[in-house]
Amino acid sequence: MKLHTPLCDLLGIDVPIIQAGMGWDKEGMTTPPELVAAVSNAGGLGCIGGSSIRPEVIRERIRAVRKLTDRPFGVDITLPKMEDVKIPDPDEVHKEIEEKYPAHAKFTTELIPKLGLMPQPPDRKSWVKTPAATREQLKVILEENVPILIIGLGDTAEVVPLAHERGTMVMALAGAVKHALSHARKGADVIIAQGYEAGGHTGTIGNFPLIPQIVDAVKPKPVVAAGGIADGRGVAAALALGALGVWCGTAFLVSRECGINPVYKRQILKGSSEDFVRTAYTSGHFARHYRSDVIKAWINSGPDAMPTPYQGNAMDEIRRAAEAADRVELLHVPAGQVAGMLSEEKSARPAKEIVNRMVDEASQILNDIRSRYVGA
Ligand SMILES: Cc1cc2nc3c(=O)[nH]c(=O)nc-3n(C[C@H](O)[C@H](O)[C@H](O)COP(=O)(O)O)c2cc1C
Repeated sequence: MKLHTPLCDLLGIDVPIIQAGMGWDKEGMTTPPELVAAVSNAGGLGCIGGSSIRPEVIRERIRAVRKLTDRPFGVDITLPKMEDVKIPDPDEVHKEIEEKYPAHAKFTTELIPKLGLMPQPPDRKSWVKTPAATREQLKVILEENVPILIIGLGDTAEVVPLAHERGTMVMALAGAVKHALSHARKGADVIIAQGYEAGGHTGTIGNFPLIPQIVDAVKPKPVVAAGGIADGRGVAAALALGALGVWCGTAFLVSRECGINPVYKRQILKGSSEDFVRTAYTSGHFARHYRSDVIKAWINSGPDAMPTPYQGNAMDEIRRAAEAADRVELLHVPAGQVAGMLSEEKSARPAKEIVNRMVDEASQILNDIRSRYVGA
């Protein structure tokens, strides 16, 4: 069935379904080229989640997508403040935590053995996303003439003119009207309104009030709805609220092509909506994750999260210990409340099927509503 909005014409796609850029792992396996290309080949828009991938790997991923599809696709990155900062040394940060936040230091030191884990040294060869490295990411995306750039977090002022100069369109995420207005004023072409229920970094406003307010505020710019959408019912609701398309993350994390560890896919498939909680524990910034044993221990321990980079450093100590012991089930996938709608029978579906079903269901629902409830 057909579902076509003006967003499709703007982006050069057939159906208004966008797979969210999710840059959770360093190799880009959350949104591998196979997933991105499958969504684009199905008529939607696939997006590489590039935010935590080193620039040369982003280039490889872009080229790999191009081998699999000649349809439009996007690359998503996040923008920390664009001035250079010193890279924090993990051992120094650890010492500072002991001095400034003794209760937090005690929590981490005690939790590691309590979970049956051993402390592990920091991986000093690991790539760090500094502002300079982010500039490199951006340079690669623009050099590769990617048709659509998506900005997940941060200020769009510097990137919009650079992107437009190369003919690259810019979409930007906003969790509040003021952020949407700021992106719109700075020239972003499409605003993605992302509600409280979403997976990953998220604000505090639910999609029902957020989407119409952003639609009204940035008119006539197109708005895409993000958060809590995993089937045609969500797509139809988003269109009813004034969005012209949807941006879905969690629904594609359980697709056949998504390369995350099956342990994390199981957290999504087994978990209920209440199991996906918004916490600042992992980095100091609020994001929605599975309520793992580590997160539960944190919630029960009571203190507020430390600011960046302390909180991320503390979480990293636990992550290293769990990974070294091959106990990633203690950790937590970022995912949204919509995980409660995803169960085993919805797992491992090819991305193409997810897109096609969303379109068919949404078209059917919109037709049904019109024929059953609308009339003189
Ligand atoms: C595993 C994961 C990683 C994410 N990483 C990013 C990211 O790097 N950049 C970004 O703009 N959004 C990121 N997000 C947020 C998504 O782009 C999207 O807004 C969100 O998943 C929508 O909510 P849903 O999960 O309910 O579909 C991430 C979300 C998840 C679940």
